[in-house]
Amino acid sequence: MIKGVILAGGLGTRLSPLTKVTNKHLLPVYNKPMIYYPLMTLVRAGIREVMIVTGGNNAGDFLRLLGNGKAFGLKEIRYTYQEGEGGIADALSLAEDFADNGKVVVILGDNIIEKDISPIVNKFKRQKEGARLLLKRVSDPERFGVADVRGKKIIHIVEKPKRAKSQLAVTGVYMYDGGVFSMIKKLKPSQRGELEITDINNMYINKGTMEFDVLRGFWSDAGTFESLLRANRLVSQKGKG
Ligand code: DAU
Repeated sequence: MIKGVILAGGLGTRLSPLTKVTNKHLLPVYNKPMIYYPLMTLVRAGIREVMIVTGGNNAGDFLRLLGNGKAFGLKEIRYTYQEGEGGIADALSLAEDFADNGKVVVILGDNIIEKDISPIVNKFKRQKEGARLLLKRVSDPERFGVADVRGKKIIHIVEKPKRAKSQLAVTGVYMYDGGVFSMIKKLKPSQRGELEITDINNMYINKGTMEFDVLRGFWSDAGTFESLLRANRLVSQKGKG
């Protein structure tokens, strides 16, 4: 069975002072704590074993909130703690033993996705090796990792480019084979001092084993005041629809 990893580390400084005393991923998005959404995305995709990488403030509250995961239909939930803000790839490295050389579906703790991603996860299960990304067409690609796509292949990803080459943002859902952890060990910190997931994705692209799908339905991150408000709006409107 494919395993899931939710990355909810980092310090959430862009949402200060909201994140001064609590953890970003526990903040409300309409009627649920933020972390519920990525968790439900994994559960809907049939994933039953999940590791949560926490960090920052109030990490113990994740346990209070999610317990042993039974209420969400999980077989097992595990927790670990990322010290500091070493980047998304640094947070993922903490899940190496949990992954046990198998494939993993990784999702960022601040990503809110409307649609069921199981058809895409199923494609990844059938994929022999490599990685798979979910892209989303957006009007403000400069805020994200941006994919340069030729035909059926991504040829390169640039993290937060000044001038985006396309409108295809890389969403916070990453599917990797067991090789990802040895690749993370080869990474060097970027200019912002983080181990960048975009560098990992470019390594898979260069090996020719990166596949992708374009996500339908709404997608939002919730890590800035603007996007948090947007995520609240999208979820509340869907609730009424
Ligand atoms: O939301 C999608 C975007 O997420 C991608 O398009 C970008 O390529 C990717 O770099 C990332 O960009 P952000 O700048 O939005 O990432 P941020 O630093 O806001 O972190 C997003 C989540 O990742 C955060 O809610 C928890 C997790 N994270 C992040 C960092 C920096 C960690 O677990 N540990 C970390 O050290």
